[in-house]
Amino acid sequence: MIEYFPITAAIAPDGKITLGGQNLDDLARSWGTPLYVYDAATLRRQVEILRRSLQAAYPGPSQVTYAGKAYFSLRMARHLAALGLGVDVVSLGELNIARQAGFAPQRVHLHGNNKSPQELENALKWGVQAIVVDSLDELALLEEIAKASGQTGRIWLRITPGLSVQTHPYRQTAHPASKFGLPIEDGQAAEAIHRAMGSRWLHLTGLHTHLGSQIFELEPYTRAVEMLCELARGEHFTPEDLSPGGGWGVRYVPEDSDEPVEGWVSAVSQTIQEQCRLAGWPLPKLILEPGRWLVAEAGVAVYTVGVVKTAMDGTCMVAVDGGMADNPRPALYQAGYTARLIPGPQRPPGGGDLATLHKVTVVGKFCETGDQLIPEVMLPSAQRGDLLVIPVSGAYHLSMASNYNLAPRPAVLWVDNGQVEVLQEREDPSAAGWWV
Ligand code: LLP
Repeated sequence: MIEYFPITAAIAPDGKITLGGQNLDDLARSWGTPLYVYDAATLRRQVEILRRSLQAAYPGPSQVTYAGKAYFSLRMARHLAALGLGVDVVSLGELNIARQAGFAPQRVHLHGNNKSPQELENALKWGVQAIVVDSLDELALLEEIAKASGQTGRIWLRITPGLSVQTHPYRQTAHPASKFGLPIEDGQAAEAIHRAMGSRWLHLTGLHTHLGSQIFELEPYTRAVEMLCELARGEHFTPEDLSPGGGWGVRYVPEDSDEPVEGWVSAVSQTIQEQCRLAGWPLPKLILEPGRWLVAEAGVAVYTVGVVKTAMDGTCMVAVDGGMADNPRPALYQAGYTARLIPGPQRPPGGGDLATLHKVTVVGKFCETGDQLIPEVMLPSAQRGDLLVIPVSGAYHLSMASNYNLAPRPAVLWVDNGQVEVLQEREDPSAAGWWV
């Protein structure tokens, strides 16, 4: 077991690392770097922990739904569907992948603050669990589309309670200035409930809120649930479904909290139960929709070290063959990471001196000064040909990856008990038709 790494990770005295029964050196040699590797056992464990804590804390019906935006591809989606998860999709692309991967429509809901008519039509036609209506404008549009196609649809309303949470400002979604959802404060949320309940074409089944991402505080969640329930009571609406969103955080660096997810599940569950007692409602279906918490820790990023140099101010720069194109999180949110060095084949047997650590900056290969993967980390002295592994890389790296500098997107592997499956092939910049 290696801190921050997937649960199957092991490190040998010569610094070699195995994951899911596979040697990362071998995988890097066969598939090239940058390489992303997901450990099946870690993902299954996360699902199991969440399910068990829901069962322990909530006596009503419940569902674990994966937020596809954290990382989605057809083969990954098949594994997630096979685990019995639901999925939250936010685009026609994600919707189509969910359908092809075998998710039942009753386990899929569609999010988005500006869904296109085409996305709404497709979700209606497929008969998803819910279209999560984000505004009064969208409510009117969806009703028109439903009426024109003669199809009724289930909806939830995304409510904005006006709560701020402690996270990067770009990850807040329910504060007063949020572009997401229907504010309670000015009556838009109540108006939407009222209109939806009176609609012939839309069947309002639930309320949803999502406070933000990488959150470790319980209070905003319990307050949000109270506010949603108060709102529903005020409008004489009894929710069948209640979704307090996702957002529970994971630990990337020692400074991050290690508040367990069970606390989140239990706080939310208790508040819903109290509110239901107060209102005399039966317990609604509780839908949690984490993305990061399910997949972040399952994934690692593997790079090859190239140039090692000293900057004019004395900073030691270790440059790897990826960077902000496959992981924009440090540049976007000043996100922190740890790393491990795997000695390369050019080293003496045993890997050389791996015990003496030096302060270095890990930079990528892209043409921006902000392309720093880790501004400061302690590593053994790095050489060209070593591998650098960054754990907790499974969420919001590849789903936000770009082709900046026309970089090919990396290969993605799934390792399970010694078996390797390719989730995504590396893009090939020398292939005919690349970037025409
Ligand atoms: N539900 C909704 C409506 C969301 O918008 C999101 C994430 C989730 C669930 C899942 O949140 P999670 O459990 O993964 O925190 N790119 C940022 C995170 C953006 C989150 C976007 N929405 C990052 O890399 O930190």
